[in-house]
This record gives sequence, structure tokens and C-alpha cells, in this order.
Amino acid sequence: LWTSDGFIEYEVERVRALVGDDKVILGLSGGVDSSVVAALLHRAIGEQLTCVFVDNGLLRLNEGDQVMETFAQNMGVKVIRVDAEARFLGKLAGVSDPEKKRKIIGHTFIEIFDEEAGKIENAKWLAQGTIYPDVVESAGTKTGKATNIKSHHNVGGLPEDMQLKLLEPLRELFKDEVRKVGLELGLPHRMVFRHPFPGPGLGVRILGEVKKEYADLLRRADAIYMDELYASGHYERISQAFTVFLPVKSVGVMGDGRTYDYVVALRAVETKDFMTATWYPMPHDLLSHIANRIINEIDGINRVTYDITSKPPGTIEWE
Ligand code: XMP
Repeated sequence: LWTSDGFIEYEVERVRALVGDDKVILGLSGGVDSSVVAALLHRAIGEQLTCVFVDNGLLRLNEGDQVMETFAQNMGVKVIRVDAEARFLGKLAGVSDPEKKRKIIGHTFIEIFDEEAGKIENAKWLAQGTIYPDVVESAGTKTGKATNIKSHHNVGGLPEDMQLKLLEPLRELFKDEVRKVGLELGLPHRMVFRHPFPGPGLGVRILGEVKKEYADLLRRADAIYMDELYASGHYERISQAFTVFLPVKSVGVMGDGRTYDYVVALRAVETKDFMTATWYPMPHDLLSHIANRIINEIDGINRVTYDITSKPPGTIEWE
């Protein structure tokens, strides 16, 4: 019978025996899987683990601070935070094709990760939050190389000359098991039950060209949406929810004046495997409340729409 404490005990011993006195590097994203790996490896090897958290400027509101608080402050995990917003946004300037944006974000991430990894002396292992469905999904595909940084599976993977051995402690677990392990290791409930967030982040939720102004507006709208989903108890009934930025302006009225501002779309879907999905039947009064808050609190957005497209024919993301 599988139990989370049995798994942790076994895995902690296995990792200790495998790694010995070597150093281990982990790309920490703030998502469920890499967070659970961080907590598990911290328990197993403590100071021998160094996490690298890259802030690409396309993360959710206060994400970087939250990651540092949970891991560095509360748990004492060694985390290097790299503020790379300007570098990512610089490379994305003028680019509007979704696949090009993905490639730029993925490659830039790998470049930065590689630079940081090179600074850690004696690093012999690269840990990743690969879970069983990822193993199955990438089996037999060209990008299914074991050296891929998981959240950028659509990129070529780590440089060939990076001589690190792979450590994937969650490789045999399903998502619900990963969550149980995370709770058992003391990670906050919200972190463990977070919706998935794509590697390219807001980069594919800002349609077309990515600009800092758009990312800042989108982050604030998304934070209001998430707040309200948590407060109303809907968050955990939804598989994935987020806000999309539409770089078009529409006319509105506010007080006595006319506004001419941007539009955001709210997305929420239910799905088992993310291959197909249905749009979530959000209560109308809740939608109305969220829309009012976004429009009243965010100067620059004057219209909110709700996406009622299922997958297929739509995709979950808009790009
Ligand atoms: P779609 O939009 O293809 O999304 O229906 C299915 C799931 O995959 C996530 N997604 C990505 N995750 N890098 C990622 O790490 C990506 O480029 C990417 N594109 C989509 C999406 O959020 C959803 O959970």
C-alpha cells in the first residue's frame, strides 16, 4: 500500500545514498511539482541543495516574494533568485508569434539557468519535478529527452555540455500522490493545490507582443480573479483558471467621462487530463462581482469577458 510518509522515508534514504556529498541544483518555479521536489530534497540533503528561481517578468503577482517566503524564509532552503525581467522582455520586444515567444522564453530560461548552475561549485546533479504523466507524455517524442527542463518541454533541452546527472524523485507518482507528499512535507495547502501554470507564463496570456505595461495590468486582474475564486470556494472545483490580456481598446463610461481602455478575458475550465476540457459554469453573480472589481480597481482595463469555449475546438490557453 502506497502512503506519503512511506514514500518520503524511502526516497529520502535513496537520495542520500545516491547523492552522497555531491551538490544538487533544482529549477524552482513555484509550481506544485518543483516545490514538492524542493521540500523533499531539502529534507534529504539540506544544504547540499541549491534552488534557482528565475523571475522572467511573466509570473503572477508577488510570485517571487511568495516563493522566497515559503522556501528561503520559512523552510531554510537555499534559493538563488534571479531577477531577469529586463532580459526576457528585451528579447520579446517586437515578437508576436506565439511559438516564437515560447522559444525565446524557453531558451532564455535555459541560458540563465545554465549560467547560475555554472556558479555552483561541485554540482553533480540536476533535480527536476518530472511526474509519471510527464514520463508517459514524452515517451517516444523528439522532445522527450531526459535532459529537458520540464516546464520548457517544447525547447531543445539543456546544453549537451552540461554534465549533470538527473535526479527525478517524483518520476513514479501521479499528481494526487505528489500533492499528498507535499502536504506531508508541510507545504502550504494553497501551494499544493495550485492550478498548473505554463512555463512561458503570462508570455502566452498576453496576446501578440509582450510589453511590461500589459504584464503589469494582467497580473493585477489575475490576482483579483484568483482572490475571488478562493473566497467563493470555486478555486478547487476548477482545473485551471486565469486571465488573458487582449491588446485592443474598447470604449466605456466611468462617472461622467468616456474611457478607452484594454480588455481582459476570464478563463476557467474543468478537465481530467488537459487534452479535452469544458468551460466552467461560473455563477453569474460571481462573474459580475469579479468584472466590477477589475474595472473599478485597475485603471487601464474597462471591459471583462468570460470565455465559453471548450477544448476542442478551443485550446485552454489562448496562444
Ligand atoms: P492547451 O492550451 O494546449 O493547454 O489546451 C493544455 C495545458 O498545457 C499548458 N500549456 C503549457 N505548459 N508550456 C507549459 O509548460 C507551454 O508552452 C504550454 N502551453 C500550454 C496549459 O496551461 C494547459 O494546462
